[in-house]
Amino acid sequence: MVSLQTVQRSNARIANLPHGLVALFIGATSGIGQAALQNFAQHTSSARIYSVARTSAVQSHETLLGALRQSNPRNIYNLVTADVSLISEIDRIYESIAQNEVKLDILFMSAGFMAFEGRKDTREGLDPSMTTRYYSRLRAIQSLLPLLNSADSLSPRVISVLAGGKEEPLNEEDLDLRDPHNWSYWNSSVHSCTMGTLTFERVARQNPRLSIVHWYPGPVETPGMIRSISLGMSPPSYRMGQEEAGARAIFLATNDRYAVDGGGFVSVPTELGSASKSGGGIFLVDPWGESVNNERVLAELRKRGIDEKVWSFTQKLFASKTA
Ligand SMILES: NC(=O)c1ccc[n+]([C@@H]2O[C@H](COP(=O)([O-])OP(=O)(O)OC[C@H]3O[C@@H](n4cnc5c(N)ncnc54)[C@H](OP(=O)(O)O)[C@@H]3O)[C@@H](O)[C@H]2O)c1
Repeated sequence: MVSLQTVQRSNARIANLPHGLVALFIGATSGIGQAALQNFAQHTSSARIYSVARTSAVQSHETLLGALRQSNPRNIYNLVTADVSLISEIDRIYESIAQNEVKLDILFMSAGFMAFEGRKDTREGLDPSMTTRYYSRLRAIQSLLPLLNSADSLSPRVISVLAGGKEEPLNEEDLDLRDPHNWSYWNSSVHSCTMGTLTFERVARQNPRLSIVHWYPGPVETPGMIRSISLGMSPPSYRMGQEEAGARAIFLATNDRYAVDGGGFVSVPTELGSASKSGGGIFLVDPWGESVNNERVLAELRKRGIDEKVWSFTQKLFASKTA
């Protein structure tokens, strides 16, 4: 377990990194993402920070960014308006970043929710709880790859906050759970997690400088969690505080413990070794920053070519939704 003290010491050293880091946050209008954004803004100097908000959250997020501008005016803060429950909106996010930047150092993704109320498809005909937690995340990585691969000396980093290490077998005949008999809020969570890990691994294999961390934060006291409780979910009584989750998230995003090829962010604390990658080449990480091994499930899926099946299914779906 990485102690909170170690996390905080490492995060304080972000200020010594070369100036001009570029980071994009998707999901920072609330919860873990918001705390991660605040933590990053507090510790960086001269970073260019992009943050995505859907229309309903623009006003409150502008207020948050205004407060960050006051507390750390050396950074530049940009709000991008987009609704990531629609895959097609990811292309607009890419355009907004690519107009102004030639590189991206950190892509941080935490948008998403569990659909306790049932499945209410978007106008693209997809379950938004799967789109926010899987399709849009993969689409964002793929779209932003040219910028991520152009990050100068740093090993660029992708953080996806969901359920790394909790992968389970899929309904292989109905990957988007179109049949109402196959859909449940739990199945859509399992598919988002497992399809995410399998496809992120494929991206990592093809982009050897890119470090991808799929983080399971455990129960965290956020607005999302409070909403879940109000809809009948009973989470464990121990819950991590939102601020701690934000600090731990930024440790994952900026410490070389989770870098490929040595990294270039904050060096690995002397008391810790490097984290180990999954058989497919990404970091599956538990709430406390330790690598998790879920090869029992993942190796079997890869062996049977389910990773390729998920990939081609998703690419066809992207082509049909963004044509
Ligand atoms: N908290 C936990 O205990 C926990 C545990 C394990 C995994 N996770 C996962 O970690 C991620 C972050 O969780 P959190 O607790 O920080 O959640 P949160 O407080 O509810 O924040 C979720 C973020 O997702 C966005 N979002 C939610 N529904 C959306 C929709 N329909 N369309 C577009 N954007 C939407 C929210 O935007 P708005 O502000 O516009 O609503 C917000 O930015 C989620 O994917 C969650 O499933 C959380």
